[in-house]
Amino acid sequence: MIEEYLDPNYIPELLPHRENEVTAIFEMFRPLLENRRPSNAFIHGGPGIGKTAVAKLVLREIKEEGVIPIYINCWYHRTEAAVLAEILRQMSVPFPRKGRGVDELITEFMERVKGEKLLVVLDEIDLLENPDVLYELSRASPTIGALLISNDQYATKKFDSRVRSSLTLSTVEFKSYTVDELTDILQERATLARLPTNELAIRVAARLAFKNHSDVRYGLSLLLKAGRIAKKSGDTLTVDLIKQFDVTQSPKQANRELEIQDDHKRILESLKSSKGEAFSNEVFKKYIEDGGKIAERTFRKYVRQLIDWKFVEEEEVAGRGRRRRLRILQ
Ligand SMILES: Nc1ncnc2c1ncn2[C@@H]1O[C@H](COP(=O)(O)OP(=O)(O)O)[C@@H](O)[C@H]1O
Ligand SMILES: [Mg+2]
Repeated sequence: MIEEYLDPNYIPELLPHRENEVTAIFEMFRPLLENRRPSNAFIHGGPGIGKTAVAKLVLREIKEEGVIPIYINCWYHRTEAAVLAEILRQMSVPFPRKGRGVDELITEFMERVKGEKLLVVLDEIDLLENPDVLYELSRASPTIGALLISNDQYATKKFDSRVRSSLTLSTVEFKSYTVDELTDILQERATLARLPTNELAIRVAARLAFKNHSDVRYGLSLLLKAGRIAKKSGDTLTVDLIKQFDVTQSPKQANRELEIQDDHKRILESLKSSKGEAFSNEVFKKYIEDGGKIAERTFRKYVRQLIDWKFVEEEEVAGRGRRRRLRILQ
């Protein structure tokens, strides 16, 4: 229970203190429901303040109105071809992974989206190598909405005027949460996770999250780590237990926390540079050559997580021993 509801990727049905943003963004795309061109939007604000969560909630709601929801994180799909292929994949269009040029992809894309209503969320838009794909989106059909997201408020300034005028973006700035807001949010998640808590412990977690750039993710990780211990011993969450996991007190541990995220990315990079497909042991070798530091056992654990998160798929290949072939999911 706690692993699921305190996971940073979990999107609750309700997002306290972001209700207005959910409504405002939904309204921007409402014209799609009447087959009209919507206004597009750009969300910016610091990390861990609900940008992705709000976008995913809007996608969930608009799907119920018959609009096809597309969510793309540009970290994993950086080129025009990768984004278009991923949109087609999410529309369940069978499309060969390899051997197709961008022009062919664009043609296929244009045909497939004709007459369809789509809301395309492009998260971490600053990592998109080339904004031409945005131009293609607006050109393909009047009933495609684009919702762009970035931590960087200047992310769209790089777009050339052709792209910018084709999109007409309304900007929505997400403000950081206050300690009170963080307390409500963390309390809600703790309740969902059925974590026996006391009010003060949640408040302390909220205050520590506030100190960490108001990042909800940080607060959730405190609740999760402390929650595991509390659950085991059958105790309620205490202030001391929360504080024990506060890495801002211990820079060494803070670095380790950051590496965890980086290593997932490094593993994906190593797999990418092996043409997106390789045996697990080859990827590990490449990862070490590229300066990776984790041991093979931990590497396997991270690969398992990447598979669970659907970034990578694996295939068991018969032969001597069990060999696992890994492939990046585009
Ligand atoms: N208002 C909120 N209510 C409940 N959970 C929230 C709220 N805002 C953020 N979260 C949670 O915090 C975590 C990080 O939020 P996310 O949307 O991924 O941040 P980012 O702004 O970096 O995209 C997620 O687990 C998300 O569900
Ligand atoms: Mg995000």
